[in-house]
Amino acid sequence: MRRGKKYMLIIVGIIVVAAAGFLFYYKTQMTWVESPPYQRTSDLPTRTLVVVYSRTGNTVGAAKEAAHFFDADLLKIEASQYARTIKGLHLASQHADQEMTTTPIQHEPVDLSSYDMIFLCSPVWWFRPAVPLWSFVENHDFAGKPVFLLVTGNSRYKEELIGKFSTLVEKKKGKFLGMLFVRRGRIYWQKTSDEVNEEVRDALQVRHKIWPVTANME
Ligand SMILES: Cc1cc2nc3c(=O)[nH]c(=O)nc-3n(C[C@H](O)[C@H](O)[C@H](O)COP(=O)(O)O)c2cc1C
Repeated sequence: MRRGKKYMLIIVGIIVVAAAGFLFYYKTQMTWVESPPYQRTSDLPTRTLVVVYSRTGNTVGAAKEAAHFFDADLLKIEASQYARTIKGLHLASQHADQEMTTTPIQHEPVDLSSYDMIFLCSPVWWFRPAVPLWSFVENHDFAGKPVFLLVTGNSRYKEELIGKFSTLVEKKKGKFLGMLFVRRGRIYWQKTSDEVNEEVRDALQVRHKIWPVTANME
């Protein structure tokens, strides 16, 4: 094969692989990952609340697993500005990079005084919880309640930025208990929902023993 033709084939190959990679990434960012509907098993009021923001469905699956573990109430946060569109993705990225802590959010009314333990769940956006979760914290007084952070991500978070989040929780009078980071893996190899759920269950099994008694509803 002539040298020129060989280079041409290599370049075309690289373009095809890059385009396929981009299309795959685009699909993961624009598609909602379904999880089974969540319903509490008991009719009695619960003292545990799981709050979740999720843009593409992965974190809400993990949050449902945590809610199921404690038979907790589940509160979903919506933020339509971060829709599953190119524009929504761009804005999510931009606001996270700017370390924004407030953005318009929508959710059912909630009275935090009815709970003794609060889980805050979110994807990681640029190494920190997603902006809507910060906004939820900004908007509430946690009145001394223990707060645990559960985040899902592809690769990593930064301690320093989690530190800033815990400082905000404490400023809003929450008692920050710590965090669980579920690393789902890079987009070309990611854990299944079942694997993520198992990781959440195992982590809660270990940790809930050191949490306040009222949160230990099994
Ligand atoms: C704007 C943006 C920034 C992201 N930054 C990170 C990051 O810094 N670290 C990481 O591990 N994952 C990062 N991710 C990947 C998501 O955290 C990951 O896919 C998450 O599980 C998605 O959760 P969701 O389906 O509930 O929205 C980012 C995703 C988006 C959209």
